[in-house]
Amino acid sequence: MKVIHVSAECYPAAKAGGLGDVAGALPKYLNKIGTDASVVMPKYQTKWIHAQHWTVVHQGHIQLGQENVYFNIQKQTYREKADLGFPLYVVDIPGKYDREGVYMDAYTGYGYKDETERAICFQLAVLYWMGTWAEKPDVVHCHDHHTGLIPFLMKYGFHFRDMGLSHIPTVFTIHNGEYQGAFRWNKMHLLPPFEMMAGGLLEWNGVISPLACAVKCAWKVTTVSQGYLEELQYHSGSLTWLLNNERHKSVGILNGIDTAVWNPATDHLIEKQLARSVDTFKKANKAAILKRYNLDPNRPLFTFIGRLVGEKGAQLLPEVISNFLNAGGNGSFAVLGTGDPHLHEVFAQMKHHYSGRFDAKLEYNEGLAHQLYAGSDFLMMPSKVEPCGLNQMYALRYGTIPVVRAIGGLKDTIQDIGFEDGTGIRFDHFSVHDCFNAIRRAAMLYDNQDFFKTVRNRGMQVDFSWDRSAQEYQNLYKELV
Ligand code: GLC
Repeated sequence: MKVIHVSAECYPAAKAGGLGDVAGALPKYLNKIGTDASVVMPKYQTKWIHAQHWTVVHQGHIQLGQENVYFNIQKQTYREKADLGFPLYVVDIPGKYDREGVYMDAYTGYGYKDETERAICFQLAVLYWMGTWAEKPDVVHCHDHHTGLIPFLMKYGFHFRDMGLSHIPTVFTIHNGEYQGAFRWNKMHLLPPFEMMAGGLLEWNGVISPLACAVKCAWKVTTVSQGYLEELQYHSGSLTWLLNNERHKSVGILNGIDTAVWNPATDHLIEKQLARSVDTFKKANKAAILKRYNLDPNRPLFTFIGRLVGEKGAQLLPEVISNFLNAGGNGSFAVLGTGDPHLHEVFAQMKHHYSGRFDAKLEYNEGLAHQLYAGSDFLMMPSKVEPCGLNQMYALRYGTIPVVRAIGGLKDTIQDIGFEDGTGIRFDHFSVHDCFNAIRRAAMLYDNQDFFKTVRNRGMQVDFSWDRSAQEYQNLYKELV
């Protein structure tokens, strides 16, 4: 069974968040169990992509409104050291994706203004290319809104129907329903000719919504946790009705983590690998962080890793941390991430104000993230929305106890320490008050070192590997073909 994954991100080629991790791991694990899975993504100008060898496998052009856009598809040429475990294809579209950032400019911190045009070009290039395959894929698996028009165009786009794509099953996975990739109808001329009668499928709330369109047109819809699927079906605001209506073809499949990349015993991005003693492992790695971050030793270390945006709850942190430190709480705080320019300013000020107790590195840094999982005591995830969340799983594996809001995938993966099998600390309401209390409970847990270590060890034993989830995806594909 041949499955092609279409994604805007794929680790290690380009990653902005969890989507990259999933697209870089799931295909590998699918291949292990006999599905022939590959990935196609845009050719960004990242260091990793630059360092690979590429062979052009297809060339073509797209009519984007008045613009004639040339593209070519390139395949990563096998190299022992860069073997991903699946064939990787990139779509090279000069002028559109040959930029360093995936979604935003690293220097200005602002998104690219031609998102819609870029996404349409990428999807059309993939479709034209697939249309030329002598042996078509058995399933096309699209991820998030950047690929959301594909199921529609395969069915109703004249070109693609003629190329024999209309009967191929499609799967659409929602990693993040907060972004729909919506654009106005006045950009409809950017789309290739399609059956007019089907035009209504493009629309949601008066605009063209690639995410909603994919939910309507894909043969199967998946979300990255069962909890998140239910949230989408019952209280996701404008999408509730749609997801509820399409529930017969929707399933939640919890993501796994790539246990080869995230292995504390072999991870070369951290100061000290895990050998016999967890204590030694944590101590050495914590020391490495305290050195890199300007923080007091001998206190519980709380970390936040991720995009500094509303859905991740980053805006709660300044008040929660200030309140905690002002009240004499025992702990120091390290932040790693980029996002909201206003939060960058606030964190920069806090660094001075709470020198020794709070520090932030406002950057994207994969290596440092590994180090933080290895050396922290607690990982804070006060998410407003969390479709699955991978960070809590990385944290557990590296002996860091998650402090999470009980939502989406966080609720499905972390049980509170008040229960026998608890591996973390949970809070319910998205508020400074509740998050503050959770941090306070964490500090108390730290004071009881015996219990702290019991919880930590329990978390390190949990199996979140991809094997189970990959099997669920494979079963889903089998249902379709
Ligand atoms: C998105 C979601 C995150 C999920 C990831 C991978 O980044 O916000 O919760 O884990 O996708 O599916």
